[in-house]
Amino acid sequence: MSKQLLKLLPIVLFIIMYACTNDNEEDLFPDSDCDTQNVTYSQTVAPIIQANCLVCHAQNIQTAGINMEGYNNVKIYAQNGFLYGAISHAPGFTPMPYGLAKLPACDIQKIKAWIDAGALNN
Ligand code: HEC
Repeated sequence: MSKQLLKLLPIVLFIIMYACTNDNEEDLFPDSDCDTQNVTYSQTVAPIIQANCLVCHAQNIQTAGINMEGYNNVKIYAQNGFLYGAISHAPGFTPMPYGLAKLPACDIQKIKAWIDAGALNN
């Protein structure tokens, strides 16, 4: 490692530490009353999306070119990170639902659990 890089190291470490302390609430303080066991696409994820997203992102109204109707469409955004990024209001994503209140923390945790388990069609 060059001397130049060694001088930058503390700055880099600071940025990494700062980024971690800035983590979002759900990750730092998981809602312990939230049951993320037995989360499925059909019973859990689809109803949340139906109630909060399809008004703008359905087959017949694809706002921003996004269709979240049906498993095959939801899976695309589950796997490319946009679904969780948007609903968790992560930096770099437009917060969803657009112009409306953030989804309840437990709904966000359930969707994350479903994605982490492989975004299965279950
Ligand atoms: C009131 C209409 C509306 C609702 C409801 C809505 N969206 Fe959106 N969505 C938009 C608009 C408008 C954009 C384009 C925003 C932009 O990038 O300027 C968008 C963009 C997105 C994007 C792309 C974000 C990005 O960073 O590029 C995703 C993913 C998304 N929506 C998912 C969702 C999900 C999931 C829900 C339900 C929790 C939802 N949306 C609810 C209107 C809506």
